[in-house]
Amino acid sequence: MQIASKILCLQALIFITVLNVFHNKSELSHHLNSLKVKGKTLGFVPTMGALHEGHLALVKKGLSDNDYVITSIFVNPTQFDNEQDLVKYPRTLESDVALLKTVNETKIMVYAPTIEDIYNHNVQSERFNFDGLENEMEGAFRTGHFNGVGTIVKRLFEIVKPHRAYFGEKDFQQLQIIKKLVALYDIPVEVIGCAIHRASDGLAMSSRNTRLTKEHRKAAPFIYKTLKSAKIKFGTKSAKYVTEWVEKQFKKQPLLELEYFIIADTETLKPLKRKSTKKTYRAFIAAYAGDIRLIDNIALN
Ligand code: PAJ
Repeated sequence: MQIASKILCLQALIFITVLNVFHNKSELSHHLNSLKVKGKTLGFVPTMGALHEGHLALVKKGLSDNDYVITSIFVNPTQFDNEQDLVKYPRTLESDVALLKTVNETKIMVYAPTIEDIYNHNVQSERFNFDGLENEMEGAFRTGHFNGVGTIVKRLFEIVKPHRAYFGEKDFQQLQIIKKLVALYDIPVEVIGCAIHRASDGLAMSSRNTRLTKEHRKAAPFIYKTLKSAKIKFGTKSAKYVTEWVEKQFKKQPLLELEYFIIADTETLKPLKRKSTKKTYRAFIAAYAGDIRLIDNIALN
């Protein structure tokens, strides 16, 4: 009798654990439609998993704006330009689901599709023209990256059909590109940008941070520290001056290798040539800590 009730408890636990996790788009659509016909609103947070507080902040914002939130967890192969980065990307579905449950047990659903569910048997990107946004910074240094991002987010929007979708300013260029994607294809979703979530020492939270060595983790907050100093200098100095100053600071920092520091127009993401008081600018950094590539950015004015 005791054993039987233990088995029942175990079965109930397994049931609870998998309750809101969908691996298949038709089952997911069916479930989401049943909520939408009841007039429920749906917020969407696309992720590649290895969830951290930054992701959870997006989920919490989604919950405060909508009746339900759906989080997708899918390491999208077509947006990786580096095979090793794709292979080593952390995959932690079980703990991700457990973490989401600490936020809300009943109002969060997870879509963790297989590669076939998204790509069938053709794992390839569509080609996009995002009015040149795709050619700057991350687009210039990671060939094809935004074709991969555009492909997956467009497909996820088609499957989930959310009312609102949440993206972090941590990937500011990606956020601008998603807004452009939605405008270009007339997708009926409101795209909402969310502030960058940081560790207490200032390092922008990222799934890749778990792969940093102790030494690199200790050195990495230098990125945000430098961005904050660049912001102060930008108040009185030219973009060229600030850029050269940042490059000099990184040369003194043996554990971090600067890939780029760029001050760009917030809207066009084109590098700033001449300051205008009518425009807003942001500074963007990509740097390597060992073989881990980190990005961060800050609003300048
Ligand atoms: P991923 O890197 O998992 O990030 C998912 C979302 O969380 C993105 O919108 C990202 O900007 C946001 N995010 C990550 N770290 C954050 C932080 N520290 N503060 C605030 N937001 C943060 O971005 C992707 O996945 C993928 O490109 C994806 C959009 C899912 C398409 O595959």
